[in-house]
Order: sequence, then structure tokens, then C-alpha cells
Amino acid sequence: MLVRFAAARPDGAYALALPVPPGALSAEHLPGLGDAGQTIVRQSAELARFEGEPGAILELFVAEEGDARRLLLVGTGTGTDAYERAGGALTARLLTSGETRLVVDLSGAGVSGEVAARLASGALLRGWRHDVYRTKLPAKSRPSLTEIVIVGADDSAAAAWERLEAIAAGVSLTRELVAEPANVIYPESFVERVRHLTDLGIEVETLDEAAMREAGMGALLGVSQGSLREARLLVLRWDGTGGTQDPIAFVGKGVTFDSGGISIKPAGGMEDMKWDMGGAGAVVGAMKALAGRKAKAHVIGVCGLVENMPDGNAQRPGDVVTSMSGQTIEVINTDAEGRLVLCDALTWVQRRYNPKTIVDLATLTGAMIIALGHEHGGMFSNSDELAEQLLAAGKSSGDLLWRMPLGDAYDKLIESPIADMKNVGSREAGSITAAQFLLRFIEEGVRWAHLDIAGMVWAGKPGPLWDKGATGYGVRLLDRFVADNFEQ
Ligand code: BES
Ligand code: MN
Ligand code: ZN
Repeated sequence: MLVRFAAARPDGAYALALPVPPGALSAEHLPGLGDAGQTIVRQSAELARFEGEPGAILELFVAEEGDARRLLLVGTGTGTDAYERAGGALTARLLTSGETRLVVDLSGAGVSGEVAARLASGALLRGWRHDVYRTKLPAKSRPSLTEIVIVGADDSAAAAWERLEAIAAGVSLTRELVAEPANVIYPESFVERVRHLTDLGIEVETLDEAAMREAGMGALLGVSQGSLREARLLVLRWDGTGGTQDPIAFVGKGVTFDSGGISIKPAGGMEDMKWDMGGAGAVVGAMKALAGRKAKAHVIGVCGLVENMPDGNAQRPGDVVTSMSGQTIEVINTDAEGRLVLCDALTWVQRRYNPKTIVDLATLTGAMIIALGHEHGGMFSNSDELAEQLLAAGKSSGDLLWRMPLGDAYDKLIESPIADMKNVGSREAGSITAAQFLLRFIEEGVRWAHLDIAGMVWAGKPGPLWDKGATGYGVRLLDRFVADNFEQ
């Protein structure tokens, strides 16, 4: 989708959208419509009970110089987020409508360039689809919309748009990685798919299995050992500070397929486990967003990439593995693999880069979905300050978080009779014991937050800024978190 800003409406065919706040429709909201056109629109709005609610759309055809023009009034409510939703609602409506071009005329809206850019961003995000494997989509169901022209925005829109376009590009990369099936995206191909990030100035480093064995990552490698696919640790580094800032770290769970291993999952719904790399996907997308908009921050992104499969060589329930930290783990359930991957990635990044702030993202527990559904990611943190920063970034980005508790009583639930800890507690508080496990790998003085995003990576139904499928959750959250707290 091409998005551009223009001073005047273009010539030729297009659908015209006019943003409308709640309340009575006045002439200034309907620029360029003659008296007759305004009357039709007002009557239509009344007949259709259109009241300018955020994202509400009134669609009608009006006569313009003898031709039929599709006209959409879109409700903006009030506030910036509502404009983003309005943009999303427009693309959702027009994507396969037959229209190829959408013109949004903001000249009657009196909004800032930032708000205009947010509308464009919502429109772009909602227009993302993954059609690469559909060879038989009937012409009528194919996306037709290819261009969005925003008219009447003030000059500040261009700068705001540059930033938001970079963020949207990060979200798209995350969605692509999440949407691809596990025969296409596995640890090595994941790395190849993101190598182009070097073009943006991101340093890309990978550790293969030999290097990880050398480093002592027995927990991560234990998960991988039942798979024919080799594991990878992917490390991305973006420094927009010219070497003047200590790094922060984002760590992502990248289980490219989670069959459960020997503790195998039931068949129903197992296909969902292609998106068990959504944490890693969000980390990569956030790095792309940050580099794309040249963020003045120093950020390390680490992805633990493995496939969890049952096999003659797979790890068994009861096996004891030694993590890179030296702590030993009794693997009670091979399906609690995410924490085994993350613990070694966390140790590695602390030893190598000594970050004082770490945020990990993982589709870690089904229990998180039971607790919070698909409305909030769960957040666990050893720092009230960091928790507040993330909650605020969640609110302003729209990627919402809800804080969950930690505590010694939960930590006790993962004591093992044979090793330093076991990888699962009982069913109770399953998301919390998973977080307690990770906390055991965080060094003294490090601010850490764990985001369990199991319910957020994939949507069963369309949302305001995404279609069914991969949401890109986490990219906008991390971008906002960096912008608000780390940029000089
Ligand atoms: N990847 C899953 C968690 C998950 C489940 C994410 C459903 C999204 C949707 C994770 O590896 C897992 O299998 N967790 C187990 C942990 C249990 C064995 C303690 C779970 O949640 O059942
Ligand atoms: Mn699992
Ligand atoms: Zn998993």
C-alpha cells in the first residue's frame, strides 16, 4: 500500500473519505460537496443513524460531475487514537471493494499533522494481509486498494509520517514472521528472513549450535535436540547514540514450532504453535522500527530460535539439563520449553552486554490466555519503575499490558528434589511460576520485565488495526517504551 500526502485532491477515480466528529454534520465537515450533495449526505447520515462514533462508517454514492463517487464519512470520535481507528476502519471497508485509490480529505477536520499521520498509520496497518499462498483467490476477493492519499494535512505530517511508517514496517515484518508456517520459518530461515536489517544499520550476529554448546546453553539446546532443524541464537544490535549509551535488551521466545516434544500436545489446535515465535517476531519488528526511524537509543535484540519436536533423540521428562548460568533444571514437562530457551538467552545477553534493563517477550503459557484473554499481555517485573514505564507505553501505543504478581511463595513451587529447579510447578498460577523461573536467571541490579503475550500474537477475529491472524503485538509497545524512556 502506497501512502502519500498531497495539497489537493487528485484527478480521476477514487473513493473519498471525510472524517467527521460526533455531533451534528456541518458544512465545514463536508468540503467540496455542493449544496445538493450536502443535503443527500445529511439525510443519509440521519437515516443510517450515523453519529460519528470512532471507526463508524457511512458509505454512499454521490453524483460528482455526472459520475458516481463513493463517499465515506468516517467517525473520528475525539483524540488521536480515534483517528488511527478511523484510518483502520476505512481500509477494512475498502480493501477488497474494487476501489484502487482512497483519498482522505482532512481540510475540514482542522487536525494536526501528527493526527493526520496517525490516521494514515491506522489505514496502513489495517491493510496488511498475507496472501502469498493463495493461488486461487477469486478476483472479487483480491485486495484492490493500492494507494491512500491524505489531503489537507499540515506540514508537520511528513515528519510524523516518517516515524509512523517505520513503525508500521516493523509491525509488518513481525506479522509476516508470525503468519508464515513452520515448514517455511524455522530457526535458520528466520535468521535469513531478517538479515536485510543490516541495510538499516543493524548489526546481525548469530550463534549456531556449536557456539551455543561452547557457551554452555544446555537448557536451550535440550529443547532443540529432538528437531532436525538446527537452533540459532539471533542477536541484533542498534546503536543510534554513537556509543554513548549503555544498551537495553529485548529478548524473544522464538520457538518456530512447539509440538510439546515428548510431552506432546493434543492434535486439536496444534497448528497454532507455528506462532510460538511471536516474542522473537516482536523483538525483530521492534528493532526494525527503531532502526527505521533512527531512534537515538542503544538496543540489543536477542531471539532464542528453536523447534520443539518429539524424536528418538528428544529430551525426556525427568532429564536434568545445565543452563548457561550453571543452574541445573529438571525437565518435568518438555512442553514447558519456552522458559528453557529464554533462560539461556537471558544469561547470554547479561554476560555479553551487561544491560541494566531487560524486557523479554514470549508466548509462554496457555494460562496467561485463561487469565487475561486477548485484551492485555501479562507483565511480570522485579522493578516498579520499569513496570510503570511499560504500562504507560502499553496505554499510549494501544498494545495493552496488565501487571501480574511475583513472590517467594510462587518461587517455592518450582523447587526440584534432584536439581536446582524444575521447569514447571503444578497447574495453579502457571503463568506466575513460569515468570519465577525466568527471574532466577536475572542478575542482581538488573531491571527486568517478562511479557507473556500468548493471548496477543494471533487474533481469531479482526481488530481495529489488524485482520484475523498475526497482530504484530509488541512492536508499537517496545517502540513507545524506548521513545519515552531512553531516547536522548
Ligand atoms: N507455547 C506454549 C504456550 C501457549 C499455549 C501459547 C497456547 C499460546 C497458546 C508453551 O510452550 C506451553 O506449552 N506451555 C505449557 C506449560 C505447561 C506445560 C506448564 C502450557 O501453557 O500448557
Ligand atoms: Mn510448549
Ligand atoms: Zn511454547
